[in-house]
Amino acid sequence: MQPDRLFSEAYQEQLVLPDGTQMRLRLVGPGDRDGLVQAFERLSMESRIQRWFYPKMRLTEAEIDAILSPADEHHGGILAVQLDAMGEEEAGIGMARFVRNPQDPAAAEIAITIVDGWQGMGLGRILLHRLLAMMGERRIPWAEGRLQADNTRMRRLLEPYVPAGGFHRDGDTLLFRFAVPQLGDPLMAQLARNAAAVAHLFKRMAEDGVLLPLAEAEKRLQSLGSKALLETLQRQDRKRAPARSRGD
Ligand SMILES: CC(C)(COP(=O)(O)OP(=O)(O)OC[C@H]1O[C@@H](n2cnc3c(N)ncnc32)[C@H](O)[C@@H]1OP(=O)(O)O)[C@@H](O)C(=O)NCCC(=O)NCCS
Repeated sequence: MQPDRLFSEAYQEQLVLPDGTQMRLRLVGPGDRDGLVQAFERLSMESRIQRWFYPKMRLTEAEIDAILSPADEHHGGILAVQLDAMGEEEAGIGMARFVRNPQDPAAAEIAITIVDGWQGMGLGRILLHRLLAMMGERRIPWAEGRLQADNTRMRRLLEPYVPAGGFHRDGDTLLFRFAVPQLGDPLMAQLARNAAAVAHLFKRMAEDGVLLPLAEAEKRLQSLGSKALLETLQRQDRKRAPARSRGD
C-alpha cells in the first residue's frame, strides 16, 4: 500500500454526462462480482467480438476472480459506475484494465470496455487517460495490446499516444505498443486538461441553462479533438433552435 498514490482503494471521481447521468470512477474490487457479470450480459455480441476477438458467451470464474482481485503492481482496473438519484451505485457501465505481461514485465496489456448504450460519449477517452495515469504511478514503462483492424473508436482513442507507424497489422488485428507518458509529461498534463475540460463541458451541457455559445463550444471541442462530443452538442443545439426562435 502506497499512501501517496492517487489510484488506490480511496480513489473516487464524480462525473456528470451530458444527459445528466451521474457517474463515479473508482477502482474495481472484490465487491463488484454481480456488477461485472451484469455489465457483461449487457454487452452486444459486436462489442464482445471487438473486445475478445470472438463471440464470447460468458466470463469464466477464473477471469472474474482475476479482474476482481485488488489492484497491485501487476494488474488493476478502473470502473465507471452509474449512480441513481440518491448518489447510490446503480450499474457498471465501463472498465479499463491493465495486466502486466509475464514475459515482458516492463509492459502491460491494456483493454477498455464500455457497455453499448454508453459508447461514443467520451467515457473511453477519460478511462484510458486515468488508466495510463495509474500505470504511470506504478512505473510501468510500456502499454501494449491489440484491437480489430476495423475498430475505429479504439484506434482513435489510442492515436494521441501511439507514435507514427506504431500500429502493426497482423491479419485482421492491429498490434500496438507505446511508452506510458509519465505523470510530469506535457502530453499527460495536456490530456488531463482535456479530460477535465470534457468533464466540465458534460456538466454544463447537463445543466442546460448555462450553455456555452455554440461557436465557442465548437472551438473548444475541436481543440480537444472530440468529434463525438461535438456532434452531441450540435444535436442539442438543433433541438434548442425552435425554442430560441420562439423566444422561450
Ligand atoms: C472502443 C471503446 C472502448 C471506446 O470507448 P467510447 O467511450 O465508446 O469512446 P469515446 O466516446 O471516448 O470515443 C473514442 C474516439 O472514437 C471516436 N468515435 C466515437 N464514436 C465513433 C464512431 N461511431 N465511429 C468512429 N469513431 C467514433 C470519438 O470521436 C473519439 O475520438 P476523438 O476523441 O478523437 O473524437 C468502446 O466503444 C467499447 O467498449 N467498444 C467495445 C469493446 C472494444 O472495442 N474494446 C476495445 C478493444 S481493447
